[in-house]
Amino acid sequence: MTAETTKKPAEMPIGLGATSLDPNFRANPHEVLDRVRAAGAVVEDTLLKRYLVTEAEAVEAVLRDRELCVDPRKAPKDSFMNMLRRRNADADAEEVQPSMLFLDPPDHDRLRGLVNKAFTPKAVDKMAARVQEIADELLDKLAGREGFDLIADYSAPLPTIVIAEMLGVDPNDQAQFKTWSDAIIQGFNPFMSDEQRQAIEGASQALNAYLRNAVAARRAAPADDLITGMIKAEDAGDFLSDDEIVTMIGLLLLAGNLTTTDLIGNGVYALLQNPGEWAKLRDNPSLIQNTVEEMLRFDPPVTQSGRIVVKDTVVAGCPIAAGSSLSPLLLAANHDPAFNPDPHRFDITREEIKHVSFGGGRRYCLGAPLARLEAQVAVGTLVKRFPDLRLAGDKVERRSVPAFNGLVALNVVT
Ligand code: HEM
Repeated sequence: MTAETTKKPAEMPIGLGATSLDPNFRANPHEVLDRVRAAGAVVEDTLLKRYLVTEAEAVEAVLRDRELCVDPRKAPKDSFMNMLRRRNADADAEEVQPSMLFLDPPDHDRLRGLVNKAFTPKAVDKMAARVQEIADELLDKLAGREGFDLIADYSAPLPTIVIAEMLGVDPNDQAQFKTWSDAIIQGFNPFMSDEQRQAIEGASQALNAYLRNAVAARRAAPADDLITGMIKAEDAGDFLSDDEIVTMIGLLLLAGNLTTTDLIGNGVYALLQNPGEWAKLRDNPSLIQNTVEEMLRFDPPVTQSGRIVVKDTVVAGCPIAAGSSLSPLLLAANHDPAFNPDPHRFDITREEIKHVSFGGGRRYCLGAPLARLEAQVAVGTLVKRFPDLRLAGDKVERRSVPAFNGLVALNVVT
């Protein structure tokens, strides 16, 4: 591991060049990330005012580090971590209620503790039959078609229906959730235009109004779902406020659909680009668990995380001053040859797959067991029902929001 911060050579891809806003990055992310990693475990991005953490060992250490924070209010105004969340034209405007994604302890632990029970592997296992039913119903509708868009027709509706049912919002509104989600994740684009900012604001307000109605409906008529659970929640005497409930449902609804959609979409794309791997899975369905781990490693839905340094620290031997933003590059870590040999090869029989696609430490993805179950059922069933599936063309369009990595559409032929 390189023991000091690398001052970027002139040709080093930093700034936009190291994000999916750049068409070259979208086309060849590993060409870019391999060069950045070769420059050091920690690379200063002077353009975006952040430090890129590139090597797997350093990324894991940053994710585990309990001294690092995420609440942008602890970062200087012009820092990368603050730019990310500035949804309002007025940079000083206060957010309504930050989600746990952007909160530190004690609020983070309190909020996570309140919903944790619903997402444990044991709780999620009980949902397997329902996830299977939803996958079957969606694929029934596609039977007999010559082709379809895997994203619009399968990988987007499946997780959205699942999380809507868990929460207790109407799964029939799933197309509307997707429209709102697609707009809201643009908030992770540090270079959003005023027009985008307004669209994000409009979508957030519409989603919040919708969710406030859903909370009111559950207060009037409690049901066996998470919204009702949150209304009743009392954890060590600590109630959730209505604003916190709305923010939490919004986070789970968004986190629960976009990322899993992308895991299934990116993974099926990798399988169809490597027909030998598709055939292996078709002939040996018991490979599905390993296949989903390889899908997570190879083309992860979340490609970077973020942390704020609140007191001077050292990362992989590099001194980093308080106030700095760190971007642990999850995609670069998964493709670090020190983590996984021959990392750019997609291999569903790979042994000891290592990845950081669900983050790590105290912020390890709450939805990981659910995402794994959904992807295993979705892809396992797809291979069984459409054994001869292939790509309709050789071009796909990737979304251009930094940190969120997925396909806009994936046209396939049955
Ligand atoms: C393939 C699908 C998914 C991927 C790749 C993914 C990825 C991630 C990552 C990388 C983090 C850590 C962020 C950080 O380091 O700060 C995270 C956190 C989180 N994820 Fe997921 N996620 C997925 C699915 C889900 C699902 C299905 C849900 C819920 C239904 C969910 C809910 C959350 C929540 C609430 C957090 C915040 C945890 C915290 O701050 O303590 N995710 N996810």
